Amino acid sequence: MIGDWIDIGPTTQISPGNARTLPVQGGEEIAIFHTLDNQFYALVNKCPHKHGPLSQGIVHGNVVTCPLHSWNISLKTGEALGDDKGCVPTIPIREDAGRLYLKRDALVSAKAPEAAV
Ligand code: FES
Repeated sequence: MIGDWIDIGPTTQISPGNARTLPVQGGEEIAIFHTLDNQFYALVNKCPHKHGPLSQGIVHGNVVTCPLHSWNISLKTGEALGDDKGCVPTIPIREDAGRLYLKRDALVSAKAPEAAV
């Protein structure tokens, strides 16, 4: 149902390999990524380590490297990779006729991960 999804604009707003952010009133800022192989992902814009802005990280494959201390975070699952432990919520995203849509309930309920100590 279309009402369950929020139109966040054209796919062309994010060039491949880049990200943009989306503020959510009363919720967490979301980072939306466009990978070089043309996939889109949406995650809470806070690294599970110390809340670094993932939207400013380097995208490679379907992974983003956090700009602060270089943890690698899966764009698919939000999980920290390698020896690092933590997970950031992901938001279901879909593409339809050149526009991007985010799942409304996931967007509103997404919570930042607890920062690691
Ligand atoms: S805040 Fe992301 S690696 Fe430390």
